[in-house]
Amino acid sequence: MADGIFTMNKVNIFRSPNRVIFGNGTVSQVGAEVARIGARKALIVTDAGVVKGGMIAPVEDSLKKAKIDYGLFDRVEAEPPARVVDECAREIREKKHDIIIGVGGGSSLDVSKGASIVVTNGGKVLDYVGNDLVPRPGIPKILLPTTAGTGSEVTRVFVVTDEADNDKKAIFSDYNLSSVAIIDPLLTVSMPPKVTADTGMDALVHAVETYVSRQATPFSDILALEAISLIGEYLPVAYAKAENIEARYHMSLAATLAGLAFSSGGLGAVHALAYVLGTEYHLSHGRTNAIMLPYVVDYNKMGAPGRYARIAQAMGEKTAGLSALQAVERLILRLHQLLADVRIPDKLGAYGILAGDLPKLVAGGLRQRRLFPPNPRDLTEEDVEKIYRSAL
Ligand SMILES: [Fe+2]
Repeated sequence: MADGIFTMNKVNIFRSPNRVIFGNGTVSQVGAEVARIGARKALIVTDAGVVKGGMIAPVEDSLKKAKIDYGLFDRVEAEPPARVVDECAREIREKKHDIIIGVGGGSSLDVSKGASIVVTNGGKVLDYVGNDLVPRPGIPKILLPTTAGTGSEVTRVFVVTDEADNDKKAIFSDYNLSSVAIIDPLLTVSMPPKVTADTGMDALVHAVETYVSRQATPFSDILALEAISLIGEYLPVAYAKAENIEARYHMSLAATLAGLAFSSGGLGAVHALAYVLGTEYHLSHGRTNAIMLPYVVDYNKMGAPGRYARIAQAMGEKTAGLSALQAVERLILRLHQLLADVRIPDKLGAYGILAGDLPKLVAGGLRQRRLFPPNPRDLTEEDVEKIYRSAL
């Protein structure tokens, strides 16, 4: 590809958990995996909704079968505050758990990752915000996603909300990689359509942002393109019919591939500009990414036209005879159509966010500058404002 500049003449690092178990019914493996690791007392970390949805029962069955003692921490909150991670770590210490089993959406998996490192390193989770500032490995963690979106089960990062400044803070470390990721698509079947849509779009954004990232690698390219193709095909199907197992299977696969991709390739301006919509307006992480995606693609397109054209192709757009930029225009239309199909309004006004909110949005977007370097087009404060304005 003519834009090999992305991947040549640099050191490419691929990071993943030691063991990724994927397939329908694989939740039954969790007890055997705990035993294999040699742990004796597990803590299941989840939220009340997951418990109510019945997704903990098969985990408990498997643990009982393997004769593993366990407890339950079900106090995870959405867009988890740092305080919840510290609470969870305290419980692990007090009750002497030696392994964490995270079950749920990105919030439960992120709290599991945070608690794991706080238990062994001490202090508070916010002490470790940044890149590679975690001194020691955490206790083992097995992560089981119940959504098809965040990819947190395979990534080296987690994000918490700092309640002091109401901002999202990210902790990057190879010690955040799970000991085992168990991806059982059947755990995602009971997701309501809105959650299917939001989390599925998060996975798409991971793949798209990684594919155009200046930190893309040959490995992340392959994973991201396949994830994009799968999501383009199966997200509307999973949204249309909750119990379409084939669609759930491929969405779970896509979310994991996208997670592996961005763990090695890096995100960009969509995530950067989306976070503030979550913290200030309480929209889900996936929803905020979904809203910003087409506008950021439109802004970014001149920085990586060939890459975006490949994304259009992966999503099934016919691009023969088109210039790269014409193909990107097709992609933008396709993204708006996909959002309409899964009933995600793509204008901020639909969420009560209006022109008067712009200063708050711009300030929030700029606080996430750490995500600007991998983005294929540089951003100034004016650019950030322009993108939000286009989304109003
Ligand atoms: Fe994300």
